[in-house]
Amino acid sequence: MSSLSRLLFLAFFLSLLFFASNSEHDNRTTYIVYMGSHPKDRVSTRSHHERMLEEAIGSSFTRGSLLHSYKKSFNGFVVKLTEDEVQKVSEMKGVISVFPNGKKQLHTTRSWDFMGLSQQVSRVPLVESDIIVGVLDTGIWPESPSFLDEGYGPPPPKWKGSCETSLNFSCNNKIIGARSYRTSGNYAIGDIQGPIDSNGHGTHTASTVAGGLVRQASMLGLGTGTARGGVPSARIASYKICWSDGCSDADILAAFDDAIADGVDIISFSVGGHTPNNYFNDSIAIGAFHAMKNGILTSMSAGNDGWKPFTIRNFSPWSLSVAASTTDRRFLSKVQLGDGRSFDGVTINTFDLNGTQYPLVYAGNIPNVSAGFNGSISRFCLRNSVDSDLVKGKIVLCDHFVSPKKTIFLEGAIGIIMQDNRPKDLTFPFPLPASHLGTQQGALISSYANLTSLPTATILKSTEGKYKATPFVASFSSRGPNPITPDILKPDLSGPGVEILAAWTPLGPPSGAEEDTRQLLFNIISGTSMSCPHATAVAAYVKSFHPSWSPAALKSALMTTAFPMRADLNPDAEFAYGSGHINPLGAVNPGLIYNATEIDYVRFLCGQGYSTKLVQQVSGDNSSCSRGDFDLVFDLNYPSFALSTPMSTSISQVYRRRVTNVGSANSTYKAIVSGPSGLKITLNPSVLSFKALGEELSFELTIEGSISRGIASASLVWDDGQHNVKSPIVVFDPNTFN
Ligand SMILES: *[C@@H]1O[C@H](CO)[C@@H](O)[C@H](O)[C@H]1NC(C)=O
Ligand SMILES: *[C@@H]1O[C@H](CO)[C@@H](O)[C@H](O)[C@H]1NC(C)=O
Ligand SMILES: *[C@@H]1O[C@H](CO)[C@@H](O)[C@H](O)[C@H]1NC(C)=O
Ligand SMILES: *[C@@H]1O[C@H](CO)[C@@H](O)[C@H](O)[C@H]1NC(C)=O
Ligand SMILES: *[C@@H]1O[C@H](CO)[C@@H](O)[C@H](O)[C@H]1NC(C)=O
Ligand SMILES: *[C@@H]1O[C@H](CO)[C@@H](O)[C@H](O)[C@H]1NC(C)=O
Ligand SMILES: *[C@@H]1O[C@H](CO)[C@@H](O)[C@H](O)[C@H]1NC(C)=O
Ligand SMILES: *[C@@H]1O[C@H](CO)[C@@H](O)[C@H](O)[C@H]1NC(C)=O
Ligand SMILES: *[C@@H]1O[C@H](CO)[C@@H](O)[C@H](O)[C@H]1NC(C)=O
Ligand SMILES: *[C@@H]1O[C@H](CO)[C@@H](O)[C@H](O)[C@H]1NC(C)=O
Repeated sequence: MSSLSRLLFLAFFLSLLFFASNSEHDNRTTYIVYMGSHPKDRVSTRSHHERMLEEAIGSSFTRGSLLHSYKKSFNGFVVKLTEDEVQKVSEMKGVISVFPNGKKQLHTTRSWDFMGLSQQVSRVPLVESDIIVGVLDTGIWPESPSFLDEGYGPPPPKWKGSCETSLNFSCNNKIIGARSYRTSGNYAIGDIQGPIDSNGHGTHTASTVAGGLVRQASMLGLGTGTARGGVPSARIASYKICWSDGCSDADILAAFDDAIADGVDIISFSVGGHTPNNYFNDSIAIGAFHAMKNGILTSMSAGNDGWKPFTIRNFSPWSLSVAASTTDRRFLSKVQLGDGRSFDGVTINTFDLNGTQYPLVYAGNIPNVSAGFNGSISRFCLRNSVDSDLVKGKIVLCDHFVSPKKTIFLEGAIGIIMQDNRPKDLTFPFPLPASHLGTQQGALISSYANLTSLPTATILKSTEGKYKATPFVASFSSRGPNPITPDILKPDLSGPGVEILAAWTPLGPPSGAEEDTRQLLFNIISGTSMSCPHATAVAAYVKSFHPSWSPAALKSALMTTAFPMRADLNPDAEFAYGSGHINPLGAVNPGLIYNATEIDYVRFLCGQGYSTKLVQQVSGDNSSCSRGDFDLVFDLNYPSFALSTPMSTSISQVYRRRVTNVGSANSTYKAIVSGPSGLKITLNPSVLSFKALGEELSFELTIEGSISRGIASASLVWDDGQHNVKSPIVVFDPNTFN
């Protein structure tokens, strides 16, 4: 052990001691106190928050317990409180919610061509290069070839942000801003302070949105092509909110507070946690609300907790919730047995064994007996269950998927073959040659391993294959219905999130496993974390043509032009893919827009039973929920329609909507409705005649009838011969999902 690492080790134990002894005396936990918008007449300050706390909890308040004040874009603070104090603070005037500072988790370049956004598409480069994308993630690797700033002018004048420069980190004209957040002040071992990305995730998402062109990019030969973001001229502002131990609510809100004030145009947010019980008890929904209030759309990952229903994590009506689907490319890693048979498995395998056959051993036959395991356990390759001496120099067959971060016990093994019935659309890079197969193939391999005297196998480097029917929503992508407001359809749409090649940091192992020594500039990973930045980029692309469009207008453009997805490939239909698959070129020219402003969301919140007091504080104005100043959920001007209702009960539900003409001045749109028998969907009026651009017309949609199955999918299309403005209509029985 070098003296430096011994020192670090010592520091680590000292810090453990420090925290342990500290917590004996202080049972305060960290809470977020959210207070909505700033009062009209003044901006809140730290001293204001201190006075509030003194008043609420009296002499037991110490200044050091106030960890952070939000004071730029909204009002609130982070403070350490006991349970009694939480009660007192919650009752104070101006406090909307008090919630514990929880932890959230992190949830190319085939993908752009797959969606029709080729390198040759028309662009508005001067406007595009003025677009600033705020990426809230694990930071950024500034030396990536994706972030070279050759040919970029200085940051646009509206930019008010800053760059946390250090010895090893500086911004340029591509990455124009970078900040990092660690409200707790305690850094976990191995984390690098400052905005530098030592994980890779933030570099990957940022480059998917706005990375410049990098020719001959690949992950050690896989996915070779030109890597590029969807808006390669746009600027990046990086906000590091996630560390090796997760992403805290306090840091998430601090980043939103800054990003809004810094002047970003759009926010990309590939992070999520548990399902909140209330929109204003959730740092992400709160941050996105204030972004929307300031004209900034937040594009969010739906979550990676599929395929079960109600697993969507980010679903506030003022943000865009993005599911993850396949492209036409997939990666296969073949297993070849000594007897010549071969099987297609999946994983992202960059290792080349040169076709050499190695001894094959079945994990069920090599239990770690001294630790008390037998074959019925070791076959699953659980931690320590296999005899690590007997895997050396061999390829191991396991009857279960093993996470890439947990293969360390196989150190010395040549490779791992895993077989189970898990979906094969979630693939990972592993720190050693690996292949993941289905149970039928697995049974053939295990019987070969059992019954042959000297069984051998090899695992080939991954090759590119094609999906027969694509796109489909990945099994891991979180599904609707919306857990808080079931009558608003979520997710909103789907985008590429499976096996996406994008930039990486050489500081972070591509498989996430510590023993992985590959230092790469590109990596291939999957998740709604990867589909979210695709949607962010498309929204930014649309904004480059229509700089004045509101967040709701951008969202509407993306949703109403989405490519239809096939319900036969996606049994959860709209709860998997929302309006369908993102269509970058179509979204630029949607014809009509379902616009909404803060007032619409405020009226919606009133209709949801949030009090006038809460709504006034959130919005910072004197909006009132009384006197009919509220909307039922059905009247929020949303570009999709959902209705939660028991099966076989007769329905009659009216939705009021408004559409703004952004197509041709003189245009007449006719309503085309399709849906299952049993549902009668009528439009009033069913023809909309526009005389001018920007003109807004209202209509009512009525659903009558009843449903006889869990989900009934229908649709409305406004058609003027040029544009198809399409909205899904979903009537469902939530009980059939439980
Ligand atoms: C911590 O909790 C214990 C009992 O659970 C209590 O007696 C003590 O007063 C608490 N300390 C503080 C600082 O609240
Ligand atoms: C900064 O970079 C140098 C050279 O690459 C490296 O030795 C050093 O550890 C880095 N420091 C930090 C804090 O990352
Ligand atoms: C917010 O969440 C906390 C913890 O789950 C809960 O105690 C509190 O009642 C919630 N507040 C609101 C306003 O929903
Ligand atoms: C495969 O062949 C290459 C080139 O000859 C060599 O560098 C590499 O070490 C070989 N790999 C293995 C696992 O034998
Ligand atoms: C194997 O171990 C498990 C768990 O320890 C035990 O339940 C089982 O009976 C064992 N099987 C045999 C064949 O010993
Ligand atoms: C068996 O498991 C124990 C831990 O329970 C571990 O220390 C030991 O190294 C393992 N033995 C072998 C041969 O893998
Ligand atoms: C291989 O052997 C194990 C016992 O060692 C047994 O459980 C398993 O069913 C066998 N598999 C096949 C396909 O024969
Ligand atoms: C939508 O509403 C906002 C706020 O009133 C307005 O600025 C914008 O021009 C409207 N239309 C579009 C297409 O964004
Ligand atoms: C409150 O709202 C009314 C209109 O409803 C407006 O005239 C008045 O200026 C508002 N007052 C404040 C303080 O915003
Ligand atoms: C729209 O139509 C009206 C009458 O049909 C015509 O007078 C007007 O010039 C047209 N406007 C445009 C922009 O084409």
